[in-house]
Parts: sequence; C-alpha cells; structure tokens
Amino acid sequence: MATILKQDLALCEYRTFPDGESYSQVVTEPEGEVAIIQSTITDRDIIYILQLLDICRDKRVSLVIPYFGYARQDKIFKSGEPMTARAIAYAINPFLSAGSKVYTVNIHASSVLSHFSCPAQNLDATALLAERVQTLGLNNPVIISPDKGAVAMGKIAASCLGAECDYLEKTRLSGTEVSMAPKEINVIGRDVVIFDDMIATGGTMATAISILKKQGARKVYLAAVHPVLTGNAILKLYRSGVEAVLSTDTIDRGVGTISVAPLIADALKGLSGI
Ligand code: R5P
Repeated sequence: MATILKQDLALCEYRTFPDGESYSQVVTEPEGEVAIIQSTITDRDIIYILQLLDICRDKRVSLVIPYFGYARQDKIFKSGEPMTARAIAYAINPFLSAGSKVYTVNIHASSVLSHFSCPAQNLDATALLAERVQTLGLNNPVIISPDKGAVAMGKIAASCLGAECDYLEKTRLSGTEVSMAPKEINVIGRDVVIFDDMIATGGTMATAISILKKQGARKVYLAAVHPVLTGNAILKLYRSGVEAVLSTDTIDRGVGTISVAPLIADALKGLSGI
C-alpha cells in the first residue's frame, strides 16, 4: 500500500515481554497523517492496534482493519453475553480524533461499524476475487452462496462474472435430518464457485463442497475474502474435494494470494472512500 500510495512505510517492532505482555515500537516516527493497517486475527492484534493508536495519538489516523475479528459477536445472542465487536470499537474510539476514519474489508456484520465514533466504511473485495476466478477460464460456471447470509456477495460475484448464482437451501427432513441443495440451479456437470466472506474451521465450506460434488458438480472452487483457516481447515476442504481455494491477503496465509492493497489504497486516496 505504501508503494501504491507513494508514501513512507514506517518500520515497527513487535516483541513479547517475559510475562507475555506485548510490546510495540514505531522505529521510524511517521510525520503528518498516518494509516495504521492491522487485521485482528488474534487478541494480541487488538493490543497492537491500541498501542499503535497510542503512539499516533496526536495525529490524524486512518485505521484499516482488513480482517475484523469478533465481528460475528455483533449481537447479544444469549443473556449475560457481551457484544464483543462493540467492546472493541469502544476501546478504539478514544483515540479517534476529528478527521480520523476506520476501514474494514468484508466485515462479517456491517452493523459493527456504527459503534465507531468516526466515519467507518466497509470495503468490498468480491470483485477482486471474481477477477481471479475469471482467470481460471471456467466454462459456464455457477456461483453458489453457502447460506442466505452470503447471497449478496454471491450476486455481486455473479454480476462481475456474468454468471448464474444460487444459494444452498436447508430443508428439514426430520427432527435430526437436514438436506441442503442449490435452491434452483442444477449443478450437474458444471463448475461451481462458492463465495463466502470467510473460511474459519472450514466446516461450512466442506459441507457445501461435499453436497455439490454429490449433486454432480464437475469441479468446485472456493472464493473467500478472509482465510482464517483454523486447525485443519485446509485439509478438510481438500478432503471434501475442492479444486482450489482462492483468498485475499487480509490474513497472511498461503492461499491468500489476492492483494486487497489496491482496494484500500483507493479508499485512502478518497476515490471510493468516506
Ligand atoms: C458465517 O455466517 C460466515 O459467513 C461463514 O460462513 C462462517 O463463519 C464460516 O465458518 P466455518 O469455516 O467455521 O464453517
């Protein structure tokens, strides 16, 4: 991003104290406005954000959180639970001075943005994933969303690719049995690309792959913005028969080869921003 924006890239150092506490230092002190870019994959990453914000407390900050962890805790689902995504925003808010902005990429629930005290925008990397799918040279592919929640993303991907789209619908067969199938489109003999915001344990995608393969899909590809990939997720996906996993670099993983830097750089330049 620094290269795209022709700006300095400040060198930061990160260490862990013997008792486990985190230490951050900006070695080359930035001048003027700063952009802090940090995904929150682990709890420690949240501390890094707070430390960097504290270092830059006198500056106007654009805070970019490409993968916003805890965004699935956007509601109080059971009494006695916290709304963790809101708690994180509230911890960050005191550092956001006038003119500060927050950016996320395909945050799981955009309602989380309303908890920030400054303008906050969610950027959409679906078109970047679709561009990569285009290079696969698939013939007449079908875009599938693994659930209703991912339908909006599936529709955007389908319109970028000029493809048909559908979603997997659950039908309850009995108290214990559920079947899943594309709502309308027959996938027999067709290449399928499943689009979702993230792959965490891989359970959702592995189920979707198996179902689509059983229903006669030729090849099944996955396109997900955030490759969280906990535990043996990638093994589960390949065991289910996935052809390839396409993902962005919001999280630093091997499959994350599609850079979101141009998307964020455009927003920071004010081309698509708030
Ligand atoms: C859920 O609503 C999300 O969009 C993803 O489908 C989900 O978080 C993926 O989780 P997992 O990989 O653990 O099934």
